[in-house]
Amino acid sequence: PLKIQQNGPLAGKHVVITAGPTHEPIDPVRYIANRSSGKQGYALAKEAVKAGAKVTLVSGPVTLNAPSGVERISVETAQEMHEAVANVLPADIAIMAAAVADWKVANQGTEKIKKQADGSLPSLEFSENPDIARFVGHHESQRPKLVIGFAAETTNVEEHAKAKLTKKNTDWIIANDVSPETGIMGGDRNQIKIITRDGIEAWDDMPKGDVARKVIEKIAKTLSK
Ligand code: CTP
Ligand code: CA
Repeated sequence: PLKIQQNGPLAGKHVVITAGPTHEPIDPVRYIANRSSGKQGYALAKEAVKAGAKVTLVSGPVTLNAPSGVERISVETAQEMHEAVANVLPADIAIMAAAVADWKVANQGTEKIKKQADGSLPSLEFSENPDIARFVGHHESQRPKLVIGFAAETTNVEEHAKAKLTKKNTDWIIANDVSPETGIMGGDRNQIKIITRDGIEAWDDMPKGDVARKVIEKIAKTLSK
């Protein structure tokens, strides 16, 4: 049974969490996706509830059940995720764990794309999706006190993560190396580095549930300062 601490360290706080992939339609029957499972975001939502927070989980398509006590808003595209996040502000804490598609298909078909008799191939055109973390980090009137972004990288993890902290104006970036050989993307364990304005903490490899519990503890500690 879930132990909600009524007077827990995040009691009275509203936490918005994005999680999972987004799906970007190509035509009515096809889409572009990514390998995010949503596990880390969902684990964070569960731990935030346990710490007494009101949690809104804005989730892309995943196979996970919503942790009990969480209000889940299910979305499909990055644009829908952006609108859902904008609608649920204000929040005290925003954790942007979703693997948001960077691009959507600009020349989406309204009908299923059919094979051509002459063998000619379809071509996709893209346009950029809204950057939700950047939107939240730079929000003029409703910026949460603590905005936390993730950085999924396959090279130069720290360098890219620092650049994202600045560009998106987040307080922290939780960075991880998602190269296929790490097994982090879709797996049950995670090894993170937390980049803040004060420096970098490198954490040991551990189950995603433990990462979530420790991140929520660190959030509570930071807010109590
Ligand atoms: N993010 C977001 N909206 C987007 C893209 C990213 O909210 N359209 C968030 C992610 O949830 C994550 C952070 O921004 O918290 C970094 O995402 P990432 O994909 O690593 O960075 P990008 O800025 O998209 O840069 P790139 O993919 O080119 O590395
Ligand atoms: Ca990206």
